[in-house]
Amino acid sequence: MFSTKLLIILCAVATAASAAAVRAADEVFRPAITAPHSGDKWTVGSVQAVTWDISSIPPANENQTGLVLLGYIEDGQLDEHLDIEHPLASNFPITAGAVNVTVPEVPNRDDYIVVLFGDSGNTSPKFMISQ
Ligand SMILES: *[C@@H]1O[C@H](CO)[C@@H](O)[C@H](O)[C@H]1NC(C)=O
Ligand SMILES: *[C@@H]1O[C@H](CO)[C@@H](O)[C@H](O)[C@H]1NC(C)=O
Repeated sequence: MFSTKLLIILCAVATAASAAAVRAADEVFRPAITAPHSGDKWTVGSVQAVTWDISSIPPANENQTGLVLLGYIEDGQLDEHLDIEHPLASNFPITAGAVNVTVPEVPNRDDYIVVLFGDSGNTSPKFMISQ
């Protein structure tokens, strides 16, 4: 026979385990970037919208702020070359689903990406920036 104390301990363990599972799900929350699209062309100095899917934001993440970084990925490489010193946008509510950014003075490339950090980073497809 289980003692009452043992049952309580078992329940507590089960509750802790499911709470941990919920937290783990929150930790991998990655709002999918819906713009820029692959092959988009941004002009230096222009204002562009970065948008993302807010349909699956867990309640625990609803008050979170976001950060958008610019980077680039060379063919066959993994390094995102993220410019952490010059965020394109920061401290906006993740629930907004969009933030406008001014395209910085950067060299022409066709392999730029933006990464949106909410709880974890999510990377856009590659796009182009030119003068
Ligand atoms: C988010 O902020 C609102 C308003 O301040 C607050 O009522 C709510 O509890 C917060 N939610 C979370 C998950 O922190
Ligand atoms: C971005 O700029 C456009 C045009 O000025 C404006 O309509 C839109 O509301 C802005 N979006 C955000 C998230 O500020």
